Amino acid sequence: MNENQQRFIKGLQKAWLVEQSSQRIYKALASSEKSPARRRVLLKLAESEMEHGDRWARRLQELGAKVPVYRPTLRDRLWHWTLVQSGTDNALKRIESTEDEGAELYGSLAVIAPARQTALPFMPCRTKKKCTAVSCIKSPKTLQPV
Ligand SMILES: [Fe+2]
Repeated sequence: MNENQQRFIKGLQKAWLVEQSSQRIYKALASSEKSPARRRVLLKLAESEMEHGDRWARRLQELGAKVPVYRPTLRDRLWHWTLVQSGTDNALKRIESTEDEGAELYGSLAVIAPARQTALPFMPCRTKKKCTAVSCIKSPKTLQPV
């Protein structure tokens, strides 16, 4: 296995862990959200993150690599708790402010992906309109399938 493949696998594993963390945050926010419409959007976002994670897990398995075990650290649990305590709107703004890190990770994976076909899942999936967690929760009808 060459260095690029190793970096690609490590990146996929990190992406898988990020999806697990995001999924749990959205579920936790949904469980404390009073508005049924907003709760549905949060659960849809959690489902979307789960699907992203499943995609990375399948790709890791295709490559014969290990799918990591998600074990939230104390820092993760504190971060999740803080987000939930701050309320859905605040939490989503904070989540959105960290989305650049995810975009950077996926961008770097697209560059080192072994083949064009493999790189495709890392391309932006919502090309018509920028759709973020904050825009979806403010206007649930804008939630686009990924
Ligand atoms: Fe995701």
